[in-house]
Parts: sequence; structure tokens; C-alpha cells
Amino acid sequence: PPPGWSREADVVVVGSGVAGLTVALRCAAAGAKVTVVTKAHLDDGSTRWAQGGIAAALGDGDTPEQHLEDTLVAGAGLCDEPAVRTLVTEGPDAVRRLMDTGAHFDTDAASGELLLTREGGHRRRRITHAGGDATGAEVSRALIAAVREAGIDFVENALVLDLLTDAEGRTAGVTLHVMGAGARDGVGAVRAPAVVLATGGMGQVFSATTNPAVSTGDGVALALRAGAEVSDLEFVQFHPTVLWLGPDAEGQQPLVSEAVRGEGAHLVDADGVRFMVGQHELAELAPRDVVAKGIMRRMQETGADHMLLDARHFGARMWEERFPTILAACRAHGIDPVTRPIPVAPAAHYASGGVRTDLRGRTTVPGLYACGEVACTGVHGANRLASNSLLEGLVFAERIAADIAAHPASCGEPVVPEAFASPLLAPEARYEVQRIMSAGAGVLRSAESLAVAAGALERLHTAAVEAYDRDGKTEEPCVETWEATNLSLVARVLVAAARRREETRGCHWREDRPDRDDARWRRHLVVRLTPHRT
Ligand code: SIN
Repeated sequence: PPPGWSREADVVVVGSGVAGLTVALRCAAAGAKVTVVTKAHLDDGSTRWAQGGIAAALGDGDTPEQHLEDTLVAGAGLCDEPAVRTLVTEGPDAVRRLMDTGAHFDTDAASGELLLTREGGHRRRRITHAGGDATGAEVSRALIAAVREAGIDFVENALVLDLLTDAEGRTAGVTLHVMGAGARDGVGAVRAPAVVLATGGMGQVFSATTNPAVSTGDGVALALRAGAEVSDLEFVQFHPTVLWLGPDAEGQQPLVSEAVRGEGAHLVDADGVRFMVGQHELAELAPRDVVAKGIMRRMQETGADHMLLDARHFGARMWEERFPTILAACRAHGIDPVTRPIPVAPAAHYASGGVRTDLRGRTTVPGLYACGEVACTGVHGANRLASNSLLEGLVFAERIAADIAAHPASCGEPVVPEAFASPLLAPEARYEVQRIMSAGAGVLRSAESLAVAAGALERLHTAAVEAYDRDGKTEEPCVETWEATNLSLVARVLVAAARRREETRGCHWREDRPDRDDARWRRHLVVRLTPHRT
């Protein structure tokens, strides 16, 4: 529908996690008029759920070069080395600037030095954390306070719909569906020559995920409809240790941070065997994909539906002081990790791919930037290294703000886009997509399982298209129908990429193609849709 209201800015930032709010702050500091739009409340994205921390070479003896090596190893041959070099060399200062912005990290009481922990794939302690295991909550708190103090304009409950472009294809703003904001209720537009997508991930494309309900791939779906390039969607990272709440658990599941293993917890099977020992030199602290696969294999061998994380030896005091969030989540589900091992299983956690950008965060559409989990900057390759995500948000947010300040964009009047029209899916389609994806495109995939998923997704989509063609009707536009439609689109693109990549690499695990095939597949799968029904 045409926008019922419109406002103007120099920069629209879509999303309010670490990436979005850092871009907003840095752009505003450079004098730009910024509007932040976010689908729910300012703190409702993934950032506030981050536990482990932020990786950066801040410790004695650590160097960006060592951080680079660990990132490249985890990325399984698909990282873009210049992007990783940018991340690790600019990372330490970006973390310091976050501290200047008001974030408080855990320090040693005696020396005042930052306390650093380890996570999978890191060969040394390099993860800064806050509140023990509540790093994201502190980052989110500090950034929201700074955004409010800077008086930056923001619109909450605003689901982004589509990109506006001018006659020359330059970015001209976004359309939004806003709910409960009085005069701005309904469909509106924020017009601006620069749009920064910072919408986070798409974990909700699976039944069980660590991601909050808002992570529905809206940014990638918008970018696809806008004709931007999207890359590496097949590389969905499954976090190895998510609290296992039964075979039918759906929606956001509690994370048990890798830092618990970093501080010495052991993964064991029902007989108490440490099955990761001997599988990788780093055992439980191998890169995340290796540990997730180790857990899945042991589950298959033993017929179990979960494994156990044993950290009873931490004792009550360490649990309370170092991991209060995880302790509370476990106890809320009747599990006391002080006295019994924690049941865990892998669940969808992070989209290593996304909207393709260069080192300045620019997508292939002029004036459209992407930052954070929605982006594919090249730093993660086939498998993100633990705790590199908040860092990526910080580093590339600053680069985007610098690029916008250095190249003030202009645009003409928005033109009515060519028909990208896709009938909206019913809200229940969300659960259908999740079931299809978990069954066919989860941690373990095969040509057969992916073909079944592709067929089921296509039928779901085609049914909506046929109903629209038959009687011209579509679902009522609202957040739920848009989310279901976006999930369906990103799921179809993800499955198509997973079918094409006939190998096992990083977090893409094909049981019918168990080996890495560098000769054919040391390359990226890039998708760009042309205007048509998506
Ligand atoms: C964790 O705390 O295990 C999550 C860290 C991450 O996803 O990078």
C-alpha cells in the first residue's frame, strides 16, 4: 500500500542492536540527521541475549594476527582475508570506544585489568565480558542510553517493508508498517539517501533457535526484493550447547555460553564419556561447527536426543558469580547445574551469510548499507568464530558511519517499484516453514532432505500465489503476515544454496557429501533476485 505518512532524514538505520545503534551514534556525532526504526522495542533484538562476549586482541601477548589465524581456521577456507584483517586490527579500538560510550566490562578487582575468557576456536583468552554472562545486555543498555542522550530520533514497533529507490536506482528511504504509534500508525515512509540495514538474523526460520522472536530475516528479505546481492545463506551456525528442553521445544531456547566450556566444563554422553576428547586437539573448545557435529554424531551413535554439559566442579559460588544468567535460566527449567549436568543439544544460532557488502558496509544497491548479522562482510566465511559477531557490528558500524560522512549521498523522488508483489502468507505459515527447515535443512543435511524441504516450501508459496491469482485476495498486511512471508523467502533461498553446495564445509554439513571439496567449492554462492514475484 502507498505510505500514509512520510518523514525525512539523512540516514535511516533499520534495527537497534549493537550494529544499528553504533552506526546511529557515530552518524549523529558526525552531524547527520538520523532516524532509527526498529520492529519492537529498542532492546528487543539479538544483541541483548549475547552471553559470551566480544573477541578482540586486548590481552597481554595476544595480537590481531593470532585473532586473524583463529578466525580463518574457523571460517573453513571461505573468509575474506582483508575483511578479517580489518576486523581484528580495528577491533581493539572499537571495543575501547564502546567502553568510552558507557559499556562496563568485567575487570579484575585488584589490577583493574579486563577479565578475558576463552570460547571455541580461540587459542587464547580474548573474550571481554560483562555481568559474567550478560555481555549483550550491558552493550545494549549502554548504547540505548547513549542514543537517548544524543537525542537521536527513533520509531519503535516499526517493521521495515521495502526499500524505496529513485528513478536511477539510488536508495531513497524505506517503507514501514508501524503499530501503536498514534499519528504514525499504519504504513509510512522515512525518506533518506542512506539506509543502513542492521536487522539481525533469521534464526526463526528454524523451530528451535537461540534467537528472539523478532529474528525473522526481514533485512535479507528486503535486500532480496530490492535486487541486492545476498551471499553464503547456506552457512547457518548451530550453537552446540543450547539448553535441551525436550524434543518438541519450539521458538527461542536458552543458550549455555561457550564460555562455560571456556572455563572448563566438559561435554559428556549419558555414560559420562568425554566424547570430544580425541576428535579435535582443542576437544570441547574446537570451533563451533566441529563441536556441534561431535554432539550430533554421539547422539546418533547412542540414540540419545541430547548430550550433557558437566560443570558441577565449578561449585555454587563460581556459578553464581561467573554465570548468573545461565544459572537462572537452568534453574527456571528445574535443572541445577551445581548438582547435575546440563542437558544440551545444538540449535540454530547465527547466519554467517547475509547481504553482501564491501569493507565499507556498502551493498550492491547505491546508498544501501548492511551491518551486523544481516550482512555478509566476508569475516565469517563458512563458520563464524565465537564472539566475533558483536565485534563485527562495532567495527563495520564505524566504517559505515565514516563512509556516509565522507560521501554524502543524494537521491531523487522515490518511484513506485516494479512489481515485487508477493502475496502475504498467513501467520501460521511461520510454523510450517520452521518445521520444514528443521526437518530438512538443519544441522545435518542431505540432497534428499533438502529436496523434500525445497518441495514443501515451494508448495507453501505456490498455494498463496494461486489463491491470489484466483480471487485477488491476500492476507491482511500486519507484522505476523510480513514475517511469515519474509521467513518463507529467506528459507527458499537458503535451501537452494544448501542444495547447490555439494560438499561439507564449516557449518554446512551434508551427510551425502561428507568431505570438503576445495577444487569445486572454495567459492561463494551469491544470489540476486530480479523484480518478479518473490
Ligand atoms: C556464546 O556465548 O556461546 C555465544 C557467543 C557467540 O555466539 O559468539
